[in-house]
Amino acid sequence: MQRFLLICSVLLSGLFFAQNRLNLIPYPQKVELLKGEFTIPGKFKLDQNLSRLETEYFKKQIRDVFTFGIGKKETAHLVNVPFSAPSKRNPENEEKYAIEISPRQIIISSNTKQGYFLALQTLIQLFRQYKDSGKIPAMKIEDEPKFAWRGMHLDVSRHFFTVEEVKQYIDYLAIYKLNTFHWHLTDDQGWRIEIKKYPKLTQIGSKRKESMIGAYVDNTFDGKPYGPYFYTQDQIRDVVKYAQDRHITVVPEIEMPGHALAALSAYPELACTKGPFEPATKWGVFDDVFCPKEETFTFLENVLNEVMQLFPSQYIHIGGDECPKTRWKECARCQELIKKYNLKDEHGLQSYFIQRIEKYVNSKGRKIIGWDEILEGGLAPNAAVMSWTGIKGGVEAAKSGHFAVMTPGAYCYFDHYQGDPATEPNAFGGFTPLDKVYSYQPVPEELNVTQSKYILGVQANLWTEYILDFKQVQYMIFPRMLALSEVAWGTSDAKNYKEFERRVINEFETLDKMSVHYARSIYNINGKVMAADNGIAYELSTSQSPSGVRYTVNGADPSAASPAYTNPIPVQKSMTIKSAYFENRQLKSAISSQDFTVSKTTGKKITLEQQPNENYSFGGAFTLVDGIIGNQRQLGKTWLGFQGKDVVATIDFGQLTPFSEVYFNTLDNKGSWIHFAKSAHVFVSDNGTDFRMIKEIGKDEILVAKGKIRLQLGNQKAKYLKIKIENAGIIPPGNPGADSQAWLFVDEIGVN
Ligand code: ACM
Ligand code: ZN
Repeated sequence: MQRFLLICSVLLSGLFFAQNRLNLIPYPQKVELLKGEFTIPGKFKLDQNLSRLETEYFKKQIRDVFTFGIGKKETAHLVNVPFSAPSKRNPENEEKYAIEISPRQIIISSNTKQGYFLALQTLIQLFRQYKDSGKIPAMKIEDEPKFAWRGMHLDVSRHFFTVEEVKQYIDYLAIYKLNTFHWHLTDDQGWRIEIKKYPKLTQIGSKRKESMIGAYVDNTFDGKPYGPYFYTQDQIRDVVKYAQDRHITVVPEIEMPGHALAALSAYPELACTKGPFEPATKWGVFDDVFCPKEETFTFLENVLNEVMQLFPSQYIHIGGDECPKTRWKECARCQELIKKYNLKDEHGLQSYFIQRIEKYVNSKGRKIIGWDEILEGGLAPNAAVMSWTGIKGGVEAAKSGHFAVMTPGAYCYFDHYQGDPATEPNAFGGFTPLDKVYSYQPVPEELNVTQSKYILGVQANLWTEYILDFKQVQYMIFPRMLALSEVAWGTSDAKNYKEFERRVINEFETLDKMSVHYARSIYNINGKVMAADNGIAYELSTSQSPSGVRYTVNGADPSAASPAYTNPIPVQKSMTIKSAYFENRQLKSAISSQDFTVSKTTGKKITLEQQPNENYSFGGAFTLVDGIIGNQRQLGKTWLGFQGKDVVATIDFGQLTPFSEVYFNTLDNKGSWIHFAKSAHVFVSDNGTDFRMIKEIGKDEILVAKGKIRLQLGNQKAKYLKIKIENAGIIPPGNPGADSQAWLFVDEIGVN
């Protein structure tokens, strides 16, 4: 390995008392503490063979850590030996580096500039940790990432972010050793990249009449024109260069065949029907998609030509997700193509589409990557899969010798809530707190050693429907991106979450210095419902000292004088529990508030015949009897989501129990493929085996009740109650996601 020297003219030694772990994120593969200390010099001279830009960047980082100037009256030199190209025969990871800190000097070793850059990031973090004492313990760090693709995605279609903001985003990636920026440039709501051959893409496609605001279910619009917002080709080149200087690859995404409404608004002749079309003002999935006719391929090839000239990345992301087949089914040209190429159906046509694009991209020496759905009807021969609907796509890809990047929604979607939705700004839905991200292991267990090599890496995605400005971008990615960084580096371990959380809280000081508006959700009180004697109890926890947690059960806001939390709070009747964290009598957290509606099912044993989708599984079946009614405007935490599946729940009352009413809620949010239940059936049993139906309702009654179902049952007495809530099934034509499986959401099954 190439070696670089940081020589210090002031030599001091001292004793180092080891503390648990250094404040490094991501944590290195190997840290060995040695005897003695290196005294951080008062001034540095960066006297090395880096480019001027790299030197400036490093200096700026050091300046951010220390307040003194650099390179004036230097008392220290950072010296390096000139780079030499790594030997072709050397199979070493190009991102590998080592740092040796002795009382005399700091030596950085790496074969590559990337490795050197990564080492500097580690060094900066060490300087920051030890700047107050002025002494860094002697140590040896040997480090390299486990995964080659360590990505962060940013959707600039739903909401646009300026070049300066995108550069800041790239800076964040660099600091935490992420190396891939996935730039989601086109979607239904806006086309954001200048294409010289097709100027209407940005003239027409980069603005929309208005935007949806608030929660999707509100169906409310702001009435304000949005745009024109797009990046010129010069701006794109500037961003790509900026990223390259930080050893970050920018992977552009051009969505096809779906999510194409902005493009079709500009060039309606590329659709199956005549149009006219407009960039979407609503969020969701839309039926009008590219028609796979020749003109469309000519257009897309020309677009991709310009894209490939701007972006030198090996991979070009071609989207591929959520393409409804509604139009293709009704389009004579699409149907002709299915016959002509002897395809099975419209899914075969999707596969034909992607394979054709792949051939073109491959012919230019590049590769395609696409979302899970590019597996539909057969994967293109050299394509990589970005596995988002779960891990299945990645598993299937790896088993068939294709590369995969893992980005499963349940762990990697940073548009989900990261704290109790009641205390968080409006988000897409889902619940992905810091510890959940940290617990993710990208290599699926079902893969053997050879197949595992096809897991290229891991990425988190930031979809921006509900993210209106860059402050909110910061809020959603911090601190979760720190967890992703360690997961991607390969040194995370869910068992050590608390220790990681300590490093995160320490890092807040750095984020404050960078004026990052990060989420403090981990300070908030976490509530967890647990089964208890005679029903349920509410357990409160905090990452801070538990003695600071105060609560009330009478609906009043807690104060420093409220009872201190000690044990789970019994919930035997309907009530509201409010809690907050206090330090020195000062309120430190948001006030958490939880309503409980206790019924005869609360805390009882419940089993489900089919399990909810992992993105919306929260506390599992128990969520349906935890006394918490779902908030219709927030899909986090209190709702279970089932895609294409019925809810068949059996509740064991434990003894013969009289009752006369059952209630539950189900949602309708068609843009997100969520439909009301089709029917509900209630059964009772005394032995848990032989059930008798006592009530049945159909779609019309569910519609009239707007999904808030209360069924009067007369006088009943039973030991078991079974309820079957029927999924709407396949989404009918004319709706977003037509032909796909509908989602069914249920919050609670109560009985009075
Ligand atoms: C996606 O979230 N539609 C890839
Ligand atoms: Zn068509």
